[in-house]
Amino acid sequence: MTTSALPPTLPEPPVVQTTRWLLRPISFLESARRRFGDAFAVQFLGFQSPMVMISDPEAIQALYTERAHGLPPGRTLALQPILGSRSVLLLEGREHLARRKLMLPPFHGERMRRYEATVAEVVARDVETWPVGTPFAIHPHMQAVTLEVILRAVFGVTDEQRRAALTERLRRLLSAGASVGLQFRVMIARRLGGPDPLERLQGLLADIDELLAAEIADRRADPREDILSMLVGATFEDGDPMDDREIRDQLMTLLLAGHETTATGLAWTFDLLLRHPHVLERLVAAVDAGEDAYVRAVVSESLRLRPVVPLAGRRLASELRVNGHVLPAGTDITPAIWLAHTRADRYPEPYAFRPERFLERAPATYAWVPFGGGVRRCLGASFAEMEMRVALTEILRRRTLEPGKSRAERVARRNVTFSPEKGTLVVARPRS
Ligand code: HEM
Repeated sequence: MTTSALPPTLPEPPVVQTTRWLLRPISFLESARRRFGDAFAVQFLGFQSPMVMISDPEAIQALYTERAHGLPPGRTLALQPILGSRSVLLLEGREHLARRKLMLPPFHGERMRRYEATVAEVVARDVETWPVGTPFAIHPHMQAVTLEVILRAVFGVTDEQRRAALTERLRRLLSAGASVGLQFRVMIARRLGGPDPLERLQGLLADIDELLAAEIADRRADPREDILSMLVGATFEDGDPMDDREIRDQLMTLLLAGHETTATGLAWTFDLLLRHPHVLERLVAAVDAGEDAYVRAVVSESLRLRPVVPLAGRRLASELRVNGHVLPAGTDITPAIWLAHTRADRYPEPYAFRPERFLERAPATYAWVPFGGGVRRCLGASFAEMEMRVALTEILRRRTLEPGKSRAERVARRNVTFSPEKGTLVVARPRS
């Protein structure tokens, strides 16, 4: 096979590529695949070099199994002002690995069982506030649930007043960060200079930091079962613990990485279930029978067909061979997760919602990458899957669900996620 350096770069001007990516990401990705196949390069506005997108599982495996690769600039640009400079999501190399080691044990799959009751309780309470028999958007409810779950299970905030104060400020921060307009302004400010559009969030961030500092101090004085207590007690290899400022960065990271993503995963799951009544019926039967396998399969299939995070890229530390190209060190490259998940060679009838495909076989590691992969794979993957399973179970035990509108949701970008445009409208009624 002949080899070349970069795969073909989309010929449209960067402003056109960026606009299509932000406004119609799925048609953008699908048309690039139709034109160029498994690998192509995209030129986003404000970025100096193109971003190579791949979707072949072997190429993804080659990318993710090399531990030395760094991060492309996009992640840091959008997130550093909020997450802080020592966030595990943003550090690279040895500094990153040291945090991973320290933060992984509290997120180990086995430990997640102890948080199931918290999720169940939060969901059950939220369901009581749902309208009966009239359409409403379920996404905001899932956001409220996942935010409260993180504040309780991860941060361990038990004081109602403090939780209310944090919730209110975090909601404002998250909705400010979600707008496509803001993302445009950040990209343009990077390209043309001028005032930092994130500047006006500084006051809000200072308030949030103060509330978090109080929680950290409390947990130092009186450790409990929550993840924050474990982080406060954990030490690096040299025996030093994380200082308060760093713990603050990791808390913001867990919050931002874990809240919107899980809520959106749930909103998509409901949209898919509502469009596939036979799957919903089978799921309700499984929930009633206390059978977990189908619930798991539904979660895996939803994350396949509607991956919440579209990109999880790297900057190459060394040459990488993919699809007949030899990409030099320094290239920015990412799996296009949507394309990886809709390959007909890996998933027969790739656009069909069929949880059964995961009943016999768990998803293949590099053909199913909703949580990224390798040494940067999502730290909260077990937590998120547990939360989605418990939320689905608790909701379907209590309510029947019908679609609140006739058409499936379109994919819209929200923050770094692919999100249901109208928030998944449902009509719910108590089960008799
Ligand atoms: C359905 C829900 C979720 C999805 C789809 C998701 C997806 C992702 C993806 C794609 C990455 C980047 C991985 C990579 O670069 O290879 C990531 C990283 C991360 N996620 Fe998640 N996530 C979810 C839930 C959570 C939750 C609940 C938490 C924590 C409470 C969390 C914490 C993190 C952290 C800390 C990282 C950074 C890992 C690192 O850079 O080493 N995520 N997540």
